Amino acid sequence: MTGYNTRAVMLAAGKSTRFKTKKSKLLFNICGQPMILYPMRALEALQIPISLVLGYQADEVKQEIERAGVKDVACVIQEQQLGTGHAVACTQSTWDREEILILYGDMPLVTKELIQQLLADHRARNSTISFLTSYVIDPFGYGRVLEHDGKFQIIEEKDCVDEQRNINRINAGVYVMKRAFLEQYIPQLGKSSVTGEIYLPELIKIACDAGLLVHAISAPYDNVRGVNTLQELWGVEQIKRSEFIRHWMSRGVRFELAQSIHIDIDVEIGAGSFIGTGVHLLGNTKIGEECFVGAFTIIEDTTVGDSTTIHSHSVLQHSTIGSNVHVGPFARVRDHVVIQDEVEIGNFVEVKNSHLGQSTKAKHLSYIGDAQVGTNVNIGAGTITCNYDGVKKSATVIEDGAFVGSNNTLIAPVTIGKEAYTAAGSTITHDVPAQALGIARSRQTNKEGYAHKIRESLKSGPATPSSVEKKAHASEEKEEEGFQFRGAVKTEADHKEGF
Ligand code: UD1
Ligand code: CA
Repeated sequence: MTGYNTRAVMLAAGKSTRFKTKKSKLLFNICGQPMILYPMRALEALQIPISLVLGYQADEVKQEIERAGVKDVACVIQEQQLGTGHAVACTQSTWDREEILILYGDMPLVTKELIQQLLADHRARNSTISFLTSYVIDPFGYGRVLEHDGKFQIIEEKDCVDEQRNINRINAGVYVMKRAFLEQYIPQLGKSSVTGEIYLPELIKIACDAGLLVHAISAPYDNVRGVNTLQELWGVEQIKRSEFIRHWMSRGVRFELAQSIHIDIDVEIGAGSFIGTGVHLLGNTKIGEECFVGAFTIIEDTTVGDSTTIHSHSVLQHSTIGSNVHVGPFARVRDHVVIQDEVEIGNFVEVKNSHLGQSTKAKHLSYIGDAQVGTNVNIGAGTITCNYDGVKKSATVIEDGAFVGSNNTLIAPVTIGKEAYTAAGSTITHDVPAQALGIARSRQTNKEGYAHKIRESLKSGPATPSSVEKKAHASEEKEEEGFQFRGAVKTEADHKEGF
């Protein structure tokens, strides 16, 4: 077991000054996971217990770690951020193992393999300190590694004299130290005469001066990049993102313009699927096999079955989509929608908190909210479920095989029964029984020859309502009355309040 004799100390108390944001840099997401969780997950995988030093935004960082459920973490508060050496000293009461592995919270690309290699080397050589170094073209910001006759010294960026700034061997910021050494020597750390901070890497010089065994192990820069600025965060996220894309490519996923696609850490994609330009796959999204996700679609915390097509510019959130489904283009699906197999959701359709049964279709310009829709239902273009009256939300039920005509307004709560029809343009305020036809619209009347009369009066008269139009309106009202008398329209008392 890797972690058997090792305790990790992770430093996360700093103020993130160079980020220039209020929020601690350690809480910024990289591919959907806060930066600090990356090295913590690597330690967790190696079963190494962690002493986490918190200070700036301690509560916020702690909450995030608790939410993620990282195992075996002891939090220690560093009240004042006096430097990395001081931060490690604050954890002394937790040093219950022989080896203390120290690393910083701002190095999300470190891998468990690299940590394992460092520990193995440390043990094999029985070193007092082993630490990771790297060679970098632009070493700005890092501590530079000086080596003379096998003795090391780290000079921090701010403490460098000019010629030292050109040294491109850097201190990566991962160390294993014998506990006995730390206990004896950590009280000897002094303050930098330049910054007044207590530097942890000074222990390397102290150990070398005491004639103790110190070894440097070279690591690839892309595994030890530190994140001090938003530019560095961007660089690191690009590396992570391409790592995930390469992973899914190797499992048979085709990415169109791969450099434009964003994938979060927990996303899964089945073989044979196609992911279009600019797609964002976020959170806990799972895409099945042989799916097509069109350009600029965003899918978040959503499960998609196999052979489903999500056309371009759609936004799907917190929902479950079946197999052989078509969604979009320009569709929005949100808030715990369940869409069963073979459903078709077309362009400019929004579905919210609803269940759509197998083979149901809503192909154009609709809003379906808080609705239970059965199987084989057809929802005509422009249909709206009026689920909100300004105070509460109500449900719409559309049973199996129903046909909702175009441009319907379904005022919830309301039920359209099994295999019922509603006429196009209806405002449905009452339940429609199974197999019935619901019509709720005013009857059309045609005024023979009126078009000519209107045109003539518009040509001759002012732009006020003409006598012809007024006359037409008066006779319309008469017709309406007659219509009502024939009992085709409900009385006032029958009407529900519709919104
Ligand atoms: C540090 C190293 C530098 C190394 C680089 C690698 C020191 C003095 N310098 O520099 O040699 O090349 O990392 O990335 O160690 N922190 C605390 N308490 C404090 C100060 C810092 O917990 O009082 C935490 C920070 O939150 C951060 C980590 O320690 O996670 C490192 O601090 P940072 O200021 O980023 O150090 P660098 O200047 O990057
Ligand atoms: Ca840093």
